[in-house]
Amino acid sequence: KRVAILISGRGSNMSALIDAARAPNFPAEIVVVISNRPDAAGLARASEAGIATKVIDHKPFGKDRAAFEAVLKSELAAQRVDLICLAGFMRLFTREFVEAWDGRMLNIHPSLLPSFPGLDPHGQAIRAGVKLTGATVHFVIPEMDSGPIIAQQAVPVEDDDTSDTLAARVLAAEHQLYPQALKLVAEDRVRIVDGCTRVS
Ligand code: GRF
Repeated sequence: KRVAILISGRGSNMSALIDAARAPNFPAEIVVVISNRPDAAGLARASEAGIATKVIDHKPFGKDRAAFEAVLKSELAAQRVDLICLAGFMRLFTREFVEAWDGRMLNIHPSLLPSFPGLDPHGQAIRAGVKLTGATVHFVIPEMDSGPIIAQQAVPVEDDDTSDTLAARVLAAEHQLYPQALKLVAEDRVRIVDGCTRVS
């Protein structure tokens, strides 16, 4: 399977996916990394890893998401992309775009969804006093941080955690989880049944 990774920033999950995909029997190849921000640090990391990169700056498109997506769409077609992995990609898509990639677009969120969607999930977890949080890889649907859950990993919350210490612990779990989830999807082992996944 040919995979595009979409980023907006640091790209540590992107790097984890690139590294995993280098293994000889990995069922997916990262063919392009696309950023909506020209200054995303992940772009340099992707180039160093020998992966094609592309910047599609959303700013010139203003509120016209469909126009931004038209450019994105042509890049995905040019690279013959089968699967999209969102990895710290901070833009929402139109319903049309999401539906066109139904069951073929993955996202990672640093909480055990459906708990703590949206911004500052680690702060949300600490304020809620949960003892476990974690990471979730899910298929993307039009509603943010929702959609059929592919894989999750739990991470303990320590009494003295700050958002930053918790984020670092969860991030290490994310780097394990995302490649595992992509592998399952790329091997066609994940079916969606009634909005949930069944893994064979
Ligand atoms: C990760 O915590 C990811 O779960 C969230 O944004 C962060 C991106 O980090 N969606 P990175 O760019 O992968 O380092």
